[in-house]
Amino acid sequence: MNSYLCRATIIALLLSPLAAATQTTIPILSAHNAVVLHTDAAGRLLTGYMGERLADAKDYPQTGASYRNSDDILSSAYTPAGSTSLAEPAIAITHADGNRSLDLRYVSHSTSVENNNVSLTTITLKDPVYAVEVTLFYKVYADEDVVEQWSRIVNHEKGNIVLDKYASANLCLRAGSYWLRQYHGDWAKEMQPEETRLTHGIKTIDTKLGTRADLFGPSVFMVSLDKPACEDEGTVLYGSVEWSGNFRIDLEVDPNDQLRIIAGINNYASPYVLSPNETFTTPAFVYTFSSTGKGDASRRMHRWARDYKIVDGRGNRLTLLNNWESTYFGFNEDTLRGLIKGAKNLGVDLFLLDDGWFGNKYPRNDDHAGLGDWQENRSKLPNGIKALVKEAQQDGVKFGIWVEPEMVNPRSELYFRHPDWVVKQPAREEKYFRNQLVLDLANPAVQDFVYNIIDSLFIKNPGLAYLKWDCNAVIYNAYSTYLKARQSQFYVDYVRGLYHVLDRIRAKYPTVPMMLCSGGGGRVDYGALNYFTEYWPSDNTDPLERIFIQWEYSYFYPAIASANHVTNWGHQPLKFRIDVAMMGKLGFDIPVGKLPAADLAYCQDALKLYNAIKPVIWQGDVFRLTDPYKYDCASILYVDSTRSSAVLFNYLVNNRYDAGNKLPVKLKGLDPARQYRVQEVNRYPGAPAGREDGKVYSGDYLMKIGLDPQVHADRSSVVLQLKTIPG
Ligand code: DGJ
Repeated sequence: MNSYLCRATIIALLLSPLAAATQTTIPILSAHNAVVLHTDAAGRLLTGYMGERLADAKDYPQTGASYRNSDDILSSAYTPAGSTSLAEPAIAITHADGNRSLDLRYVSHSTSVENNNVSLTTITLKDPVYAVEVTLFYKVYADEDVVEQWSRIVNHEKGNIVLDKYASANLCLRAGSYWLRQYHGDWAKEMQPEETRLTHGIKTIDTKLGTRADLFGPSVFMVSLDKPACEDEGTVLYGSVEWSGNFRIDLEVDPNDQLRIIAGINNYASPYVLSPNETFTTPAFVYTFSSTGKGDASRRMHRWARDYKIVDGRGNRLTLLNNWESTYFGFNEDTLRGLIKGAKNLGVDLFLLDDGWFGNKYPRNDDHAGLGDWQENRSKLPNGIKALVKEAQQDGVKFGIWVEPEMVNPRSELYFRHPDWVVKQPAREEKYFRNQLVLDLANPAVQDFVYNIIDSLFIKNPGLAYLKWDCNAVIYNAYSTYLKARQSQFYVDYVRGLYHVLDRIRAKYPTVPMMLCSGGGGRVDYGALNYFTEYWPSDNTDPLERIFIQWEYSYFYPAIASANHVTNWGHQPLKFRIDVAMMGKLGFDIPVGKLPAADLAYCQDALKLYNAIKPVIWQGDVFRLTDPYKYDCASILYVDSTRSSAVLFNYLVNNRYDAGNKLPVKLKGLDPARQYRVQEVNRYPGAPAGREDGKVYSGDYLMKIGLDPQVHADRSSVVLQLKTIPG
């Protein structure tokens, strides 16, 4: 579709809502999709249709009659609890007088156009009996077919009301069957997928862990309609709650076979009190919807994330050497000087100093002590961080540092100085996760403390160029001294406090690269990525495991945000480890000084190659070609937006006899009419090139016949670069 026409039509439609005699129709349109809302005769707002855009906009007013659930109470666009709707609610309120019923009626709506691509539709609803106002927001990113949906609740009553449930979105979909792909995990086992058919009733995906909420499961999921979607076929919705705390997603197949998705903050232990005239704004639920398969949906999500969500999504990233796996807590200034030299020698952009650099009375020499005392440890670093930053600068390497500012060890000065800042039950035994407790970010004094840790690091060390922000504990014994009688706000106010701190940091340091880490991937979500340039997918850096973990993350997050380090986990050759880490933002975490000369030279060359191909990996479109869950090999392709260069990664994922790629790998996303030269890159010196090296094929050939990377036990990972040639 002509993109100008497409945008113009969308904007025109948004500005002139279609009104039928008895109903208001609100079509919310993106390039390919439509969410159509209608009012009924009583003014209740219902979902009339959700799916592909219709060719003729005049058809939208009648969609409800054909598409909508025959039982209107199941079609609410934001289901209120306690009046005529008996379905799982999106919102439940206890009014100032103790009454628990809510009915929401349409008042008005409007659309503002932010730019050529982004518009915001707001719909105001009111309870005819109680003075409660709810506004629904639909922010549409037209070209990407991405919608962010959230709500705002205002208490106009004379007394306090309690929000018992306050979802971000309430979607209604219709199909013959629904297939949910969801994720669970644990430390070093992030993003374990399961795909099942949804049966009637409610399936809930949620977390109650508080901080590193998705240690047991993230909020990202996909639902396919009628059959499980494939990469290039099928209708699929990707969704995720932009919230770094407890979330809840209810997926209900109702008796009329409609799927209702109600997503937002988890209301578990969290009734939220609103004083008169107070407002509660939920985080956004973000989703994209594609009728051409999972590949298309993920590429839409990636484009949106790079352009609108992740910090500096179209910018640069720094390759780095981290010291965690080579030293753990056991280092001193000399060790670090050696590693900084190693970083220079390797050719990376930055040296990242990890955990263990702080604490004096309670030195951080293992994970039992020191968290909270953010002063350089005088015996390890007698000249402070400053001397290391300077050393790195002299070597032409940037310097970054690890922090875990939300946490405290009971063996720390902070713990004794501010027991009231620590999340713990006053009368119960403390329970630790990794020997630590969580600081109460609901408390503004704690927010200031956390902000000041970061701010002082930057003030004292103006050359500091990178931050790794870790978060290793869940919240046990949730209790905030600060919140006093309002304990049920704790889980929500904690995350708001965290965002408040991050807002302040970003206001002062808008572009400094920051890695979102949580003992691996315990906190990867688009709420947090609004403040970060990259995330740490998992502490599991065994490259074989990472192929699967990165594969699943790649549905939802673009490669530029995935920090992948080459470590000594796993038994694969160095080449295999580097090839896997290249599918994102490359880093190293190995004792460089101990590398044999040939390996060091290989790493140096790999970095040069990476610097040449990283724009395609970071900004290109991803195509998952061969599924490691089904075949002996995994093949993943990145193609740049001009379709003139591409990089194909292939890995052996099975070590049984004769395992390898039996079929040619068919490429995607190329220009059929152009010629591409294939080059096998990142070969270990002395390893012969495979049969495709140097060959020239048309894009048409490569997409219909494919090429043979010859992956087998002796060639367990193969990287092929493709570039168009004139002619
Ligand atoms: C957990 C992180 O995932 C690791 O990379 C490392 O930074 C350790 N924490 C340090 O304690």
